[in-house]
Amino acid sequence: MQTRVCRIIVLPGDGIGPEVMAEALRVLQVVERRFGVRFEFHEDLIGGACIDRYGVALRPETLERCRRAHAVLLGAVGGPRWDDPRAPVRPEQGLLTLRKGLGLFANLRPVQTYPWLQEASPLRPDVTRDVDFIVVRELTGGLYFGRPQRQWQNRRGRQAVDTLRYSEAEIRRVLRVAFELARQRRRRLTSVDKANVLASSRLWRAIAEEVARAYPDVELRHMLVDTCAMQLVRRPADFDVLVTENMFGDILTDEAAALTGSLGLLPSASLGRRRRDGTGLGLYEPVHGSAPDIAGRGVANPIGMILSAALMLRYSLGLPQAAEAVERAVAAVLAAGYRTPDIASTGTTVVDTTTMGERIAAALEESDGETADKVPRPSGPSGSR
Ligand code: IPM
Ligand code: MG
Repeated sequence: MQTRVCRIIVLPGDGIGPEVMAEALRVLQVVERRFGVRFEFHEDLIGGACIDRYGVALRPETLERCRRAHAVLLGAVGGPRWDDPRAPVRPEQGLLTLRKGLGLFANLRPVQTYPWLQEASPLRPDVTRDVDFIVVRELTGGLYFGRPQRQWQNRRGRQAVDTLRYSEAEIRRVLRVAFELARQRRRRLTSVDKANVLASSRLWRAIAEEVARAYPDVELRHMLVDTCAMQLVRRPADFDVLVTENMFGDILTDEAAALTGSLGLLPSASLGRRRRDGTGLGLYEPVHGSAPDIAGRGVANPIGMILSAALMLRYSLGLPQAAEAVERAVAAVLAAGYRTPDIASTGTTVVDTTTMGERIAAALEESDGETADKVPRPSGPSGSR
């Protein structure tokens, strides 16, 4: 059998980005050996690192290279060095340009609690038990991209405006992704909005009702974003799939991440249009940021990045068994008591970033089960577009 070659653009970025990226690549090298694929990694610059070198947060040729790749892995962008509000370019622009430029409108953020990490969560174990949901965040519209967006000054002082704008088509396509996902899971979808105040939310809700007609097997409920923020800490285990606009999704996913015990554990996948088999170009990054306070100290948790690589295997490369094997390896290492400092508790073994990556790679190497994804099967959130 001919070995498949997958072209992957690697953008380590700033802060702890390069440290956690190194561990994800280590794990992917084991995937190559065990699952009969070959990865071609092309490293490039984004964020502050790119500003320092080229004066822009993302070069057009990098974006072009990403367009032609199978997937993009990204560490993190940003840091105090580039935080001056008067600076003409900011690291985050690189990330936003990438998301928009690649048409990655659906951001999937799965949230799961592990029984071994109960103590790391700020919430009681009876609240976090059995938490297993996924947030679908709209990623290329809303306040992040709406125009006008600017500051100016007039007789009444300084003014600023941001614009929350959505088209029917933008709302419909992300809702479809969420419904398709719900269909593969427990068939319960919560659409989060602020329909009691915002016109854009009232459109969102109307479209959700319309799209729901094609998914009679999925139970749809609407929830106001403030209520949702509360329910996420009161009854998080009740959620299955949530779908919401860009800014609400940004805020709720940090809150959701905290449930699990550490922001360092959460992966994300940003997806655009899918092929028939459910795969397509995607951007995979941990939910955590560049964490400049701990950068370079070897204490960062690489699990969010490693699990992001697992999502890449599932959603862009059509290797669901490899994805599951990586996810099982992470769980096995946590079950064995290894912890980075952010999730350490009494009686556990505290390890650094590299050791955590090595343990997970070793667990994957030793895992049994399938050695190859022989028959690629549909695994994306939607195989129908
Ligand atoms: C995230 C981050 C980004 C966002 C920042 C870095 C621009 O917070 O991915 O959640 O707001 O989308
Ligand atoms: Mg965020």
